Formats: sequence, structure tokens, C-alpha cells
Amino acid sequence: MPGNMASSNAPTNYKYLMPLRKEISQHAGDEFPHSKHLPLLDSIMQESARLNSSETITLRRKATSKYTFSDGMKVEKGRTVYAPLRAMGRDLSHFHDPESFIGDRFLQSGNLKPKDSTKGSEYTDITAKYPYWGYGIDSW
Ligand code: HEM
Repeated sequence: MPGNMASSNAPTNYKYLMPLRKEISQHAGDEFPHSKHLPLLDSIMQESARLNSSETITLRRKATSKYTFSDGMKVEKGRTVYAPLRAMGRDLSHFHDPESFIGDRFLQSGNLKPKDSTKGSEYTDITAKYPYWGYGIDSW
């Protein structure tokens, strides 16, 4: 993560440093602090993963039989398909201002609470919108 943050966005990212240190120091004594207590850290990890995915493509799947997607796209038996992870992370229809690093993008605006406060971490969530961990039974 530090490598991801130390990019051309470094001056902008600096503003997250003090709030992040404060959030982490509040749980310094906890052996395994739950990520729901570290919402800014979780959001920054999500944002780092969104902008700097370790893989450009993901979700490699080989069709064992002819398959037709719900939108009509056909895949012949034996063909391999992929999801364009990096492009999905920068898709304007899913992420506003997608080229910018916005450390609190995944928090409610104006405070350090997760967008969905009933959930602990979203970084580890498996989603079709951004399948960083893959999807379905193959994602770990
Ligand atoms: C940032 C770290 C990681 C990322 C982004 C990542 C991502 C992925 C992705 C994209 C897949 C493919 C899932 C699919 O095709 O649907 C996968 C599978 C898997 N990952 Fe990770 N992974 C990470 C770390 C780890 C670690 C630390 C372990 C184990 C200690 C691990 C174990 C596995 C296993 C066992 C599979 C399933 C392989 C299979 O069924 O063929 N991953 N991971």
C-alpha cells in the first residue's frame, strides 16, 4: 500500500496521513483490530486496490461447453474469457473521478464511517463490480 500511495498523487494523499495515524493509534493495543474499527485504512486499501490492481485481467474461465451470457454474448466451447479488472476499476459508470486517488472514497462523506456501517470490511468483499479477489467458488 505505501508504494501505491507514494505516486504522483502524493501531495493529495498526504492529507490522509494524520487521520490514518490517529485511527490506527486508537487501536494500537488491540491484538487483531477488526477492520470495522479502521474504516479509513479499509477505504484506503480499497482505493489502492482499485487504482493499482495486481492483475490487469482476472477471472480466467474456460468454457467447457458453448455458453450464452444474458446479454446474448456467446462463448464457444474451449474458449477462455477474462474480466478486465484494471479497466473496471477505472470505469466512470462505477467510480466517479476514477483516475484520482480518493482515500475516503468508500466512506460516508464528511466522516470516517463506512458507507454501509453494518458491514465490517469491504476491502475483502467479493463483488461483481470490481472482482479483485475473483468471483464465486474460486475466490479465496
Ligand atoms: C492481494 C492479495 C491477493 C489477491 C488480489 C488475490 C487474488 C486472487 C484471484 C483473482 C483469484 C482467482 C479467483 C477466481 O478465479 O475467481 C485467487 C484465487 C486464490 N487465491 Fe488469492 N489473492 C491474494 C492473496 C492470496 C493469498 C495470500 C492466498 C493464500 C495464502 C491466496 C490463495 C488463493 C487460492 C487458494 C485461490 C484459489 C485458486 C484455485 O482455486 O485455483 N490468495 N486469488
